[in-house]
Amino acid sequence: MSENCVKFGVIGCGLMGREFASVSMRWLHLAGDLPRPVIVAACDTSEANREWFRRVPDTKYFYEDYHDLLANPEVEAVYCAVPHHLHAQVYTDVIRAGKHLLGEKPFGMDLDACRAVLEAMDEHPESFVRCASEFPYYPAVQQMVQWFREGAFGQIIEARFAIKHSSDMDLTKPINWKRTRSANGDYGCMGDLGIHTQHLPFRLGFEPLTVSAQLANIARTRPDANGNPVPCETWDNAIVLCEARDGAGDHFPMQLEMKRMAPGCTNTVEYEIYGLKMSAKFTTDDPNAVRYTLTRGREQAWARLVVGQKTLYPVITGSIFEFGFSDSLLQMFAAFISELRGLPCPFGCFTPNEALLSHRVLTAALQSYTQQRVVQL
Ligand SMILES: NC(=O)c1ccc[n+]([C@@H]2O[C@H](COP(=O)([O-])OP(=O)(O)OC[C@H]3O[C@@H](n4cnc5c(N)ncnc54)[C@H](O)[C@@H]3O)[C@@H](O)[C@H]2O)c1
Repeated sequence: MSENCVKFGVIGCGLMGREFASVSMRWLHLAGDLPRPVIVAACDTSEANREWFRRVPDTKYFYEDYHDLLANPEVEAVYCAVPHHLHAQVYTDVIRAGKHLLGEKPFGMDLDACRAVLEAMDEHPESFVRCASEFPYYPAVQQMVQWFREGAFGQIIEARFAIKHSSDMDLTKPINWKRTRSANGDYGCMGDLGIHTQHLPFRLGFEPLTVSAQLANIARTRPDANGNPVPCETWDNAIVLCEARDGAGDHFPMQLEMKRMAPGCTNTVEYEIYGLKMSAKFTTDDPNAVRYTLTRGREQAWARLVVGQKTLYPVITGSIFEFGFSDSLLQMFAAFISELRGLPCPFGCFTPNEALLSHRVLTAALQSYTQQRVVQL
């Protein structure tokens, strides 16, 4: 390595592949001197999506077949953002090619696919592997993490972690791969959205012990590209209720909500932790603030603390300015690069073992709903 960088290949140049391209080009936003992810190679089966990457000044190799990207010795690490049914094959090939991997969620379409990725990792311990998940990097969420680590909440009473969309409320929205079982898997909305509700609680040591799920397939058909109605078989909304246990050994209800049909929500993430001494809640509807309780004698009042840009990895932006989605991706990639290079990382990316736990919860949720019972993990 002559330059202070990590040379990346991107497999999957769609929505998320482009977000990473943007992150790599605004690395100077970070105040420190972390190695920059330089995207030397881009791969997509769609020519139009490959073409988009020609505007990335660093990208000089373009591939239709990802095996060719993996054969390029210049590529040290891969960011992979492809449909879910391809995760197992592509991720295991990346690892077996000896590359580092940041793979998108759900990290395999199902439990077996996730296990296959972990098996490849066992064979190649030299590959550093993580799963993408950016919402815990909002400074207001990190404030909740800090309070939790300080023991400020006391005994936990209840916790709730949700992500809610509403674009599917438009029944004329055409079907895409995320709404087909063949490419998205049996989890439906839970595969797309589950990890966004799990990174924070899993990292705080909230261990799910039981799973009980309510799943809803609300839109039974959607128009295809020609406007003809075709079956839309994926779950639109899921409410997963767990009995959880924390590191102190206390048991409490933990609710995970993943919804594609939540009126008025545009990727609204909500994290809520209720404790005997303190409670706190965050929503991306008010992304710079965290609400928490102040106790006055027997009474609790909700206060709103504006956090601003107090980021995990310092940035050039003044702390009084707002933080947003693309900032959270910048912080997530900073965490990935730090861990990859063995640098300090106070809150790392979602680990493959956490992804395995996620798959166990989501698989149990399918069993719970179809068998109408509470599933022990
Ligand atoms: N972290 C997040 O917030 C977030 C948000 C959206 C999606 N995602 C995840 O990112 C992944 C991709 O989702 P997206 O929204 O970017 O989808 P997308 O459809 O926009 O992009 C997927 C890309 O993969 C390409 N592709 C398909 N087969 C391929 C192959 N064999 N080789 C190379 N490229 C191939 C497609 O042509 C497309 O360009 C999924 O795992 C999804 O769950 C994460």
